[in-house]
Amino acid sequence: MCGIVGYTGREDASPVLLDGLRRLEYRGYDSAGIVVAQGGTFTLAKSSGHVARLDELTRGGRDLPGNIGLGHTRWATHGQPTDTNAHPHISDGGKIAVVHNGIIENYARLREFLRSKGMSFQSQTDTEVATNLIAYFYAESGDILSAVASAARRMEGSYALGIMCEDMPGTLIATRRENPLVLGFGDGCNYLASDVAAILLHTRRVIRLADFEIAALTADSVTLYTGELDKLEREPETIEWDVSAAEKGGYEHFMIKEIMEQPEVVRKTLSPRIRNGEIILDGAEITDEYIRALSRIYIVACGSASYAGVVGKYSIEKLARIPAEVVFASEFRYCDPVLNANTLVICVSQSGTTADTIAAMREAKARGAKVLSIVNVVGSTIAEESDWTLYTWAGPEICVASTKGYSTQLALLYVLALRFARAKNTLSDAQFSEAVAALLVLPDKMEETLGLREELQYLASQYFSRDDMYYIGRGTDYALCLEACLKLKEISYIHSEAFAAGEMKHGPIALINRERETLVVAVATNRGLVDKTVSNIIELCSRGARVITVTTQSARTVIEGNDDIRGETVAVSDFYEAFLPSLAIIPLQFFAYYTALALGRDIDKPRNLAKSVTVE
Ligand code: G6P
Repeated sequence: MCGIVGYTGREDASPVLLDGLRRLEYRGYDSAGIVVAQGGTFTLAKSSGHVARLDELTRGGRDLPGNIGLGHTRWATHGQPTDTNAHPHISDGGKIAVVHNGIIENYARLREFLRSKGMSFQSQTDTEVATNLIAYFYAESGDILSAVASAARRMEGSYALGIMCEDMPGTLIATRRENPLVLGFGDGCNYLASDVAAILLHTRRVIRLADFEIAALTADSVTLYTGELDKLEREPETIEWDVSAAEKGGYEHFMIKEIMEQPEVVRKTLSPRIRNGEIILDGAEITDEYIRALSRIYIVACGSASYAGVVGKYSIEKLARIPAEVVFASEFRYCDPVLNANTLVICVSQSGTTADTIAAMREAKARGAKVLSIVNVVGSTIAEESDWTLYTWAGPEICVASTKGYSTQLALLYVLALRFARAKNTLSDAQFSEAVAALLVLPDKMEETLGLREELQYLASQYFSRDDMYYIGRGTDYALCLEACLKLKEISYIHSEAFAAGEMKHGPIALINRERETLVVAVATNRGLVDKTVSNIIELCSRGARVITVTTQSARTVIEGNDDIRGETVAVSDFYEAFLPSLAIIPLQFFAYYTALALGRDIDKPRNLAKSVTVE
């Protein structure tokens, strides 16, 4: 939610900032802006719309010369995505420039206070309040570091801030609370960014700023301070991510690239966790005693991560026989969950910075439960604050709609289910070995499933112009429908809903329209449930629906041989049933992708969305 990048060095800052912003657009793309300083004087360019527009406006940054600057790409919270509300913001009096990611919750009170001191505001944003607050303290103390520290003490909410002061040419100041900020170490230059992806082209040596810390960066130095301005020493870490992981690598969109990467990243995620036929939880050394004493598991997450959680719930209950419940993180605190030392809360988050999931994690800990998190971004807030963290090794996921993030989350949820099953002896040795063997071949089976790409491209070309599409399934097939339906609506904007197949007759079947030949996607991979789902499909077809059925090779004939079913069939391999969702999601991802492509949508950056949602 909003991307920040900063550069101080000897080269022109603008091209570095624009390139960084392009890589951060997944965090928001309502508007973009850069501020560059030359000899202490700020030059500013900002505009609503994507970074490409800013790039055009500034002629690739050539119109803004200067060796130090800050850039921002916005997901609007306070005030519409207009040019005026775009960041950077310049303080009343012009001395301070600020870019911000997060929400200053007490901005209204602070703005009143600053107005009473004679300061004026141009925009509707909370960021301009932070900017003027820093300027106010700077006017008092004449010291930018102490001004930032004083402002930080008065701001409630969350923020990552990049700050420049006209009186300190060559220095960038950064601080954060609950929003990510990394400092990058270059050769004769230094960087700051919301995410390493923005600066990976220039450096792999980074420091992740912790909450309340303040950093001062010049071309030749990075100095770290506590919130009380005591100096800190910390060695940079080296980022292992391959730079090409954050590039499109010849694909038209990040989404299709990330779909195609799934077998490889699932392999990376699974392989360190399986040793000699046993499950190893690196980063989560949970004892058998703790697992045996568990009375309930809550899986808490948002968006796709929560739908991965629904598959996880089925796996954990089926394989380990521990009651599991999935709760949207945004609802967790309000449903007054029953938590104690025998409750485990599993937080699932690709970014590790989703505000609602962070809040739920803290609530769970405060109420005495342990938290195990499944996270992709190393060192993120959720990863750092959980009792145990298991990383998905998906690499950077750039497309706003999650695909490889979701698949690696599924893989780790299977791993957990098996670890719990082992501790609780709910599977015989033979059953356990069968499951582990299936996990080992899962990446190969996913690879094979990628072969369905063209078939789904064709189906999308047949149906992309529909106004509505519905998804139905039972059990894990239903869990999959939730994710498939989300994929379709977020990138194609087609109205779509997912229903438990058996619920159709209790209301939703009224949506089936014979004249419009309503399209339904049915998922029927679960051996024991195929016949029941087929009955539901027939009920829909007899009311005029057309149905694309995603099933397994062995069940395909049952569906294709049934004259009452009108539509097409897509088949994945027969496989270990609890892990079949990892195969069946692939054609559904392709379908969403090619439908959106046929509609000419902005697939990697769908309207109104952002990848990292750091507001509640
Ligand atoms: C946003 C993204 C979704 C994502 C959700 C949860 O809404 O657009 O793709 O599933 O946040 O994000 P997380 O980083 O916590 O998995």
